[in-house]
Amino acid sequence: MQFTVAIDGPAAAGKGTIGRAIAARFGFAHLDTGALYRAVGAKGGDPVLAAQSLSAADLARPDLRTLAAGQAASRVAAIPEVRAALLDFQRRFARAEGGAVLDGRDIGTVICPDAEVKIYVTASPEVRAHRRWLEVGGDPALVLAEVKERDARDMNRTDAPLKPAADAVILDTSALGIDAAVARAVALVEARL
Ligand code: CDP
Repeated sequence: MQFTVAIDGPAAAGKGTIGRAIAARFGFAHLDTGALYRAVGAKGGDPVLAAQSLSAADLARPDLRTLAAGQAASRVAAIPEVRAALLDFQRRFARAEGGAVLDGRDIGTVICPDAEVKIYVTASPEVRAHRRWLEVGGDPALVLAEVKERDARDMNRTDAPLKPAADAVILDTSALGIDAAVARAVALVEARL
């Protein structure tokens, strides 16, 4: 069976948590596509070469979740050749036998326009920054500024900008706990299976 769940949305909206929960619930494979861009940014050097030669070791770096790695990721993610180098891997993952969940920014719009389920997860910048602050700590004002700056860059780039697919279901988690958000996403998948 081929079945793709595309989860997109801005920084720290809860895409990863929802994606992992859906994958565990239905036995699907899960790909955090942001980790690919974080690994390219963290590798340094020519980002296009880094994307073309990305290895499992690059993806296992312990420093990929830092604010600096997020910023570096969104800078390299604006380069069309970087995105092109990562496209095939993501598409193959999405159509692998047994079902797949991918979370990112352009899954429903560019990587898998034919995904069976598309969810755009969002929340207010303040709620998202608070969640990211719980994860990384530091100065809360700096975390909010980082989230806003990265969203602006991701939404305004020319190649594969962050936006909901026309047929995506919008899931605003500003006032939803994680269990309620996951339950909504599970219901969307069940309805389509
Ligand atoms: O976890 P968080 O939502 O903060 O970020 P992430 O999903 O790890 O993505 C890091 C950065 O990679 C984003 O800010 C985007 O610039 C880029 N990205 C992208 O362009 N396309 C994707 N499919 C996934 C991430």
